Amino acid sequence: MNSNLSAIYRINKFLSSINYPDAYRISREIVDYLASNKKRSESVLKKLAQGYPWEYIQGYAMFCNHKFKVTKDTLIPRIETEQIVYDCVRLIRENNITNIIDVGTGSGCIIISIASILGSSPYSFIATDISSKALDIAKFNEKTMLKSKKIKWIENNLIEKVPNITSDTLVIANLPYIPTQQYSKLDRSVLQYEPKIALDGGSDGLTYYKGLFKQLLSNKSFPKLIYIETESAIFDNTKQLIQRCFPNADIYEILDCFERKRFLKIFTNQPRQG
Ligand SMILES: C[S@@+](CC[C@H](N)C(=O)[O-])C[C@H]1O[C@@H](n2cnc3c(N)ncnc32)[C@H](O)[C@@H]1O
Repeated sequence: MNSNLSAIYRINKFLSSINYPDAYRISREIVDYLASNKKRSESVLKKLAQGYPWEYIQGYAMFCNHKFKVTKDTLIPRIETEQIVYDCVRLIRENNITNIIDVGTGSGCIIISIASILGSSPYSFIATDISSKALDIAKFNEKTMLKSKKIKWIENNLIEKVPNITSDTLVIANLPYIPTQQYSKLDRSVLQYEPKIALDGGSDGLTYYKGLFKQLLSNKSFPKLIYIETESAIFDNTKQLIQRCFPNADIYEILDCFERKRFLKIFTNQPRQG
């Protein structure tokens, strides 16, 4: 066995012993990381044993085939979320959407991936986050991933300061949606190290979506489409909230790659006001 393979084997054995998810893939990444950073394995394995997420040690997470810088100020993008990118690119093309808004952008993974597929003209891209530190990381990711600047970044409570939500707009949101009680029972690697502000959705998990829909309803015109991520435990409540807020809407339930109810696609069909 060459030294690389034996190192992968040793690290894989260790990660499996602490029930680290996806141990084999990560063992290979750790070996590459140790070699290119001239580091010894002990300190990395110690951190992993304490529940520190590998992506924060490595400094990036893969999402839609791009390397997104992540820090403790940004959620680590999840594989399920990639589906938002592919579904929304199709929706944008099929529905003549030109204005795309990503609410709660975190590392910028969704909007940057969409912009990298669509290119610039005729699109306008806006992304918001309440965390200025997350936005700094998102701006860095845009610089390293897109040839030119395409995205307007706004530090904001949801979409309070976003101008021009027109009828050719798609609003995408992956906002904190885990009910507080459920949040407190999450795995310690999430609870201790990922930002609470990215995950805790309040007592019913709906605090942020209620806020977003209220802000959307206070606008003169409505987005043609809304695409949100949520989770199965609060899926039906989220759908009912949407039905109450947008009584004319056509709402579609979408499963994620693990066959769990995860996304809601909403054609608002909302008549213009005033
Ligand atoms: C579940 S994370 C999603 C991050 C990223 N979009 C992704 O899919 O990986 C939710 C994001 O919403 C942001 N957030 C929390 N409260 C917010 C608010 N009131 N207004 C805007 N963004 C908010 C958090 O900082 C976090 O980046």
